[in-house]
Amino acid sequence: MAPQATTADLVIRNATIVDGTGTPARPGDVAVGADRISAVGDLSDIQGSRELDAGGAVLAPGFIDAHTHDDRAVLSDPLMSCKVSQGVTTVVTGNCGVSLAPLHVDDRPPPPLDLICETPDGFYADFGAYLDAVDADPPAVNAVAQVGHSTLRLGAMDRIDRPATVDEIRVMRGRLEKSLEGGAVGLSTGLFYPPAQAAPTEEVIEIAKGLTAFGALHTTHMRDESDHIASSIDETLRIGRAAGIPVVISHHKCAGAPNHGRSEETLALIDAGRHGQPVGLDAYPYVAGSTMLDSGRLMGASRIIVTWSTQRPEVAGRDLADIAAEMNCSMDDAVEALKPAGGVFFMMDEADVRRILAYPHTMIGSDGLPHDEHPHPRLWGTFPRVLGHYRREVGLFSLEDAVRKMTSLTARQFGLKDRGVIRAGAYADLVLFDADTIADNATFDRPKAPASGIQMVMVNGRTVWHDGAHTGDRPGRALRLQDLDPPQAA
Ligand code: ZN
Ligand code: CU
Repeated sequence: MAPQATTADLVIRNATIVDGTGTPARPGDVAVGADRISAVGDLSDIQGSRELDAGGAVLAPGFIDAHTHDDRAVLSDPLMSCKVSQGVTTVVTGNCGVSLAPLHVDDRPPPPLDLICETPDGFYADFGAYLDAVDADPPAVNAVAQVGHSTLRLGAMDRIDRPATVDEIRVMRGRLEKSLEGGAVGLSTGLFYPPAQAAPTEEVIEIAKGLTAFGALHTTHMRDESDHIASSIDETLRIGRAAGIPVVISHHKCAGAPNHGRSEETLALIDAGRHGQPVGLDAYPYVAGSTMLDSGRLMGASRIIVTWSTQRPEVAGRDLADIAAEMNCSMDDAVEALKPAGGVFFMMDEADVRRILAYPHTMIGSDGLPHDEHPHPRLWGTFPRVLGHYRREVGLFSLEDAVRKMTSLTARQFGLKDRGVIRAGAYADLVLFDADTIADNATFDRPKAPASGIQMVMVNGRTVWHDGAHTGDRPGRALRLQDLDPPQAA
């Protein structure tokens, strides 16, 4: 055991420590030296250059947002208030098949790539250069980045409405491998979306085989999250087995009224899969999703709110049904008039959302879209909503288990070395919150409201959020594959 320091940069005293592993909360102190936690326990013999009395509040590892589209936000809005205000200290980017690298484009990229960046100058031909840009002008949070399969397709194919040829697959796999060398942590697919819809399973397998030697993982916005969800889970498991890699099912849901209640079936499929191979999943705590608006793809939603529109920016925040009624046309025709555009889709069942959130292997991921004019409230509310609404009010899980789902579980899944846990030697990514009052304030009507109850947030030993305000500090880092542990069955 290392000799205990008698001084520290900071000692946080009288905290209720919820260490992220799921073990019961315990009272204690935490000392921080430089960017790490130096000691945990009764630290009355340690003097801090700074001291903070937690007054019994909960001190937890900073939350890890398992599923984000913050690829450009970490560069264009590096304070990342939407995330640090929730206690998030690390974001996983490059999801749903879309990433800013490796790709060169000359024009506005097709949807859904435009959800992360509408202009060609935001893309990076080299993945390592993207991560270097993050480190050169760092955000307030740490970032872990994946390569998007749709991004690879756009860069390697003249047309994306067909399967890739053997040569194109070779090019994509080469670019994936070079990106992994540059620090990417995995490959995401968005087989649901037009740029990747025509990709057969075999194409994904052949590209994903590039992950195996690197110990990298694969996440997926599956081909179908509604009527054909069971075969999509099968496809995901098959890709994982064929390439010998861990897979993560993104934002797991059962969409559309005919599929409500099917999470019993889908979680059983995931459970069965986990007996033979590493399978993970994430979810956000809402019955509505959000993505691009596309006619013919309204996903059986019972209600749709427009989140942004290039043609009619003034309609952001309004119901698509009202807009269509005003225009005296069908919803699909209204979408054609608004495009490119995005929407919030009410398409899930509350019982499914609860069952999926409570499943022991489900990580919490916001899937927030940071550039939307009128975003889904998950962008600002996900983590406090899990801790306030679903943990305290609904009683879906214990405080310790809720924290585990947003910290150590996610850190293990992505191999985030020395993060997601409070122990001596781990990075000082910390959040201090009041478990009795923590609450999301972002709503579908007023989506950009910061949460209540988050008292202090620290990233790599530096305070980024205190008493309801950003400190302005930006101590985040790009976390590269080479600095991580191999992903572990979580
Ligand atoms: Zn997605
Ligand atoms: Cu997503």
